[in-house]
Amino acid sequence: VAYNVVVVGHGLVGRELARLLLGGALGLPLRLTGIASSRGAVILGGPGDLVHLHRIYREGGGLEDHPGFREGLGPVEAAVLANAHVAAVAIPPSYVTGEPNRSIVFGLLEHGVSVVTADKTVPALDYDRLVGEAEARNLYVGLRATVAAGTPAVDAARGLRLREVRRLRAVLNTTTSYIVEQVEEGHSYREALSQARAAGLAEPDPALDTLGLDAAAKLVILSRLLGFHASMDAVEREPLESFSEDAVRAAAARGLKVRMVAEADYARGRYRVYPDALAPGDPLYASDPGEAAIVFEVEDSQVTLRGPAGPAWRTARVMLTDLADYVAHARLVERLSPGE
Ligand SMILES: NC(=O)c1ccc[n+]([C@@H]2O[C@H](COP(=O)([O-])OP(=O)(O)OC[C@H]3O[C@@H](n4cnc5c(N)ncnc54)[C@H](OP(=O)(O)O)[C@@H]3O)[C@@H](O)[C@H]2O)c1
Repeated sequence: VAYNVVVVGHGLVGRELARLLLGGALGLPLRLTGIASSRGAVILGGPGDLVHLHRIYREGGGLEDHPGFREGLGPVEAAVLANAHVAAVAIPPSYVTGEPNRSIVFGLLEHGVSVVTADKTVPALDYDRLVGEAEARNLYVGLRATVAAGTPAVDAARGLRLREVRRLRAVLNTTTSYIVEQVEEGHSYREALSQARAAGLAEPDPALDTLGLDAAAKLVILSRLLGFHASMDAVEREPLESFSEDAVRAAAARGLKVRMVAEADYARGRYRVYPDALAPGDPLYASDPGEAAIVFEVEDSQVTLRGPAGPAWRTARVMLTDLADYVAHARLVERLSPGE
């Protein structure tokens, strides 16, 4: 039996994931039955629909170029029409109002559709409700792509639950690391930011990266996974630009690297995101701006994790790992409640 997947968001990540699913999903029993963007959706019925989609990926073009594109069809309606068992959500974050992300994710769950997401909005703002609603319906929620996609940070945090985790220090936002590299080379913050956007690295709203919202959301998600009641409001944030361009270059001249550091002190209940100049001996010091690094201070020791965060093609692979877990979850639920 194959499980139907709808992809919500047809940008850098969504397209890569749709291509992976079209290409056989690495042998997983998954079938792509729908794709939604911000303007409409395509429900994939017969082989002709797939041929058109293959052509879009081969020759370039958007979802609206598909002859089956239905303008105005929202992601939840699309998931229902596509008989989706699971939705892969890759839409931009919305930390101020939470919308439309909240309505989409909770709408999917209400219709019995499991969710794997690269978007951090709902897990960062509504973690308890997300987990609670999924559990109440025996649905699966996959979060691996929300933090350091490509490095199993979510698995590490889950694996440390109920341990005595005292502190977490991490570099979780690689866009700011990239911006710092550019500033070190003589560019202004403004130039570095537009280069990051042109390279597809920065969030559409640059404040998410440089004001620390992106790192704060990731810090909240990791802390929640560890079992702490963190919230976005509780994270103190200092902008990257509180290090002047000259200060970034002076730090580099002394062999230091300025990085946006996310830190949680669980004993004090203090959560912070701030730029800091890291020395080479620091486990967070990473020479590659595309790398994330996380140090969990556990009991009398440290667990350190370091590796790639993104880009989009890798994020799509990580979502496929979540989808593999979804398949195992769905099979278990079917065995425990046959006939439902
Ligand atoms: N890129 C990475 O490496 C990476 C890594 C980890 C996590 N993420 C996260 O993954 C998410 C997607 O990233 P991305 O790089 O793929 O972004 P992107 O290229 O900007 O794509 C976003 C897509 O979402 C669609 N969209 C916007 N609002 C929507 C709505 N209400 N309903 C349905 N679709 C909607 C957009 O549709 P239109 O095309 O119609 O505008 C666009 O196709 C973000 O939350 C990001 O933080 C990205």
